[in-house]
Amino acid sequence: MPDGAARTSAFLPYGRQSIDEADIEAVAEALRADFLTTGPMVDRFEAVFAETVGAPFAVACSNGTTALHLAVAALDVGPGDICVVPSITFVATANVCAMQGAQVVFADVDPSTGLMTEETLADALARANGDVRVVLPVHLAGNACDLAAIGAMADRWGCSVVEDACHAVGTTTPDGPVGSTRRSDAACFSFHPVKTLTTGEGGMVTTRDAALYARMRRLRSHGLVREGFDCSPGPWWYEQTELGWNYRLPDILCALGVSQLKRLPAFVAQRRRLAARYAEQFAALAPLVRIPPATEGVDPALHLLAARIDFAALGTTRAAFMEQLRRRGVGSQVHYIPVHRQPYWVERSRTPTLPGADAWYAQTLSLPLFPAMTEADVDRVCEAVADCIEGKVLAA
Ligand SMILES: Cc1ncc(COP(=O)(O)O)c(C=O)c1O
Repeated sequence: MPDGAARTSAFLPYGRQSIDEADIEAVAEALRADFLTTGPMVDRFEAVFAETVGAPFAVACSNGTTALHLAVAALDVGPGDICVVPSITFVATANVCAMQGAQVVFADVDPSTGLMTEETLADALARANGDVRVVLPVHLAGNACDLAAIGAMADRWGCSVVEDACHAVGTTTPDGPVGSTRRSDAACFSFHPVKTLTTGEGGMVTTRDAALYARMRRLRSHGLVREGFDCSPGPWWYEQTELGWNYRLPDILCALGVSQLKRLPAFVAQRRRLAARYAEQFAALAPLVRIPPATEGVDPALHLLAARIDFAALGTTRAAFMEQLRRRGVGSQVHYIPVHRQPYWVERSRTPTLPGADAWYAQTLSLPLFPAMTEADVDRVCEAVADCIEGKVLAA
């Protein structure tokens, strides 16, 4: 179905990719060209992405997880090091630190936004018993953390900052677009289908640091170096200088990325329009339903409409609420279960109670938000939510 056409009666998932004929043609063209894997579209996607977010360097890679892994590996994170990760995120943010043998200290979040703050970072740093190497703020749902404050604190502690910007392409901050890395060492993006831009699977790291950039490029391809030898025996020569991985993003998917980037301004404008409509409609339902406030100076390109619903005050459960929404044609999802409560992490992190993360988790529910939605679709979701609130949740 073409974007935006006759969606009103269809089931509304919480997120959905937008692929148009130009995207399909871009992929078809790449399939007809000489390179399926590493070819000209990789360089093109990196160049256009870097320009879009205002960073000098960008490294395309196979997904958001490998983007995060390249960044922490290139910063030399290893056994004995500590990384600080907010508990409200996708597990990947913490997992890449463990993949490098580092220990994770989970930070609490502001319960009204789900974001790590200067205060919750300070608390995590005080709990860390050793050398904190990297702090990984997560720009949850597309709302950005206060990187000026977080970056300043990381500087005082002598640690690097890697932004998990998987949700936040298109978001602007007082320092420019997310990804410009003016307050961090690197920013990592995901192009999974529910994200604002998609390449199916895909990721990108941006940075201002030329050495970090060179190392991430090397690590993306098995740690191989192909140029700069004094006595190369011939043009076939390469050397493996360290252990890396195959984290490359194929030309076909980069072609889709270049095409999607042309549509980014329209995606962002539509997401902002829809989010504004949600805010308008939900104002009448406060304080039972609230939209998290944007961080001061930030203009979010929301990837998720992560509403906060006071299920306890309504005398219901989130599961019952989600089921009633589903019956009314409205999909929803939960972002996220606090990572420190995952079985893998409980023993390994021995995290104390994080009241902000627990409070966020208790009330969060992501409602449909994707570019093909119309304002009438938003109204339909809001009516379904209002229906549930008016006591129909348990009765139906
Ligand atoms: C906050 C966050 N970090 C990291 C990732 C990992 O990205 P990917 O699924 O592309 O590996 C995701 C993806 O869902 C995410 O939402």
